[in-house]
Amino acid sequence: MNNEPSKILIIEDEDVMQETLKSILKKTYAPIAVGSGFEGLEAIKNNNFSTILLDLRLPKMDGVETLKRIKKLDSEVPIIIVSASKDVKSAVECMKLSAFDYITKPFEVDELMAVIEKAQKLARLQKENTYLKESLKEASRYSDLIGKSPQIEKLHSLIRATAPTPSTILITGESGTGKEIVAKEIHRLSKRTNQPFIALNCAAIAENLLESELFGHERGSFTGALERRIGKFELAHGGTLFLDEVGCMSAAMQSKLLRVLEDRTIQRVGGNTPISVDVRIVAATNIVFEKEIQEGRFRQDLYYRINVIPIALVPLRERKEDIPLFIDYFIRKYNAILNKKVKSITPHALTNLMSYSFPGNVRELQNLIERAVVLCGEDSIKKEHLLGITTEKDCALLPLQDACREFEKNYIERVMKSAGNNHTQAAKTLGLARSTLNSKLESLGLIIRYSS
Ligand SMILES: Nc1ncnc2c1ncn2[C@@H]1O[C@H](COP(=O)(O)OP(=O)(O)OP(=O)(O)O)[C@@H](O)[C@H]1O
Ligand SMILES: [Mg+2]
Repeated sequence: MNNEPSKILIIEDEDVMQETLKSILKKTYAPIAVGSGFEGLEAIKNNNFSTILLDLRLPKMDGVETLKRIKKLDSEVPIIIVSASKDVKSAVECMKLSAFDYITKPFEVDELMAVIEKAQKLARLQKENTYLKESLKEASRYSDLIGKSPQIEKLHSLIRATAPTPSTILITGESGTGKEIVAKEIHRLSKRTNQPFIALNCAAIAENLLESELFGHERGSFTGALERRIGKFELAHGGTLFLDEVGCMSAAMQSKLLRVLEDRTIQRVGGNTPISVDVRIVAATNIVFEKEIQEGRFRQDLYYRINVIPIALVPLRERKEDIPLFIDYFIRKYNAILNKKVKSITPHALTNLMSYSFPGNVRELQNLIERAVVLCGEDSIKKEHLLGITTEKDCALLPLQDACREFEKNYIERVMKSAGNNHTQAAKTLGLARSTLNSKLESLGLIIRYSS
């Protein structure tokens, strides 16, 4: 951290005033004093000042003109006008030209120090803001989307073509195929990249809270609404709103969302003023919409509004050439997080992974490698470090009935895991009624682990 006192420029032509200001400031700051606007501009070119104190009555070039020229050189440095009381008109003009503040002579030392402290705070915030913006740009320069299979290549070109447009995108794919990471990539490559990316998982929010989560609420609009809350639509203004698990919305919420997508205005719960929002929607789902529409659970008109550009993600088992790439990436990732030095994976363990079907897709592979890196005390991950995968070979020596039961147990466990232990969602994926799933969990001895 830099502990040097910050530099303050004093532009003041009266010697006595110059000396007074310097002696007040040098206890805390590093003041540099000059006697004219021209000298001030030269000093600014050669130094990095955190604040400038500017007298209004200066020889040759007055304070107002000096201020204008400083702003051209450095629009962010806070400038405090130090003026005589009769110069109020010029001081007001300076404020209009974005001076930070002004004080009139004679002034109290405390008054001067307080204004400078405020200006310093602003300068610090401005620096932080610039730094954050730069690091955001830096972070968003690279894609996190891994893969070299033809399917991923195709996905990259589809994203590149559609990201810059304002159109709504619907990403579909099994759990863990990378829907959220694709949504972020779309945002990164869009014109909105420096604006917010806001994500909301519609399945994770209780039905009665979803409306307020999306549109916000006014104070007192319902019990517990103690203050005004801004919803995700307003937070995403100018940027992208990622509506995850959009298929899980109730009929009432579906019609509200449809209205917003048509009007591009929202109303906070309990409010009656329409608020326009400029938001790019990217939605995702792992359910089959056509079936939901056919069975009356999802509105067809909303589906058409959302499904303007469909992006379907391919399951990992259908792009197996990406598996070694992911393994390498996740080994490096978890080495760094867990402070380990695992180098690779044995050919035997790799063969096991290559012949596995990954119902939980990339997320499942990621979890497997994380566990393996934790367990691995050697250079390479071996088969015994890969807990939780069952290849056909493992069941080969069991009687058929036991092998089936074993398979069923493992499979249901995997589906429960990838559904985030959500019984309704897991039952949907398995094509079972929720009650049937529960009795299966019970008969397979899994009910304690997955009690709802
Ligand atoms: N192509 C990819 N490159 C890098 N990481 C990936 C890729 N695909 C998936 N992942 C990683 O796998 C995990 C799951 O991905 P993500 O959360 O995007 O999946 P999802 O399709 O949204 O899953 P769900 O339907 O369960 O919400 C994340 O940690 C993500 O970083
Ligand atoms: Mg997701």
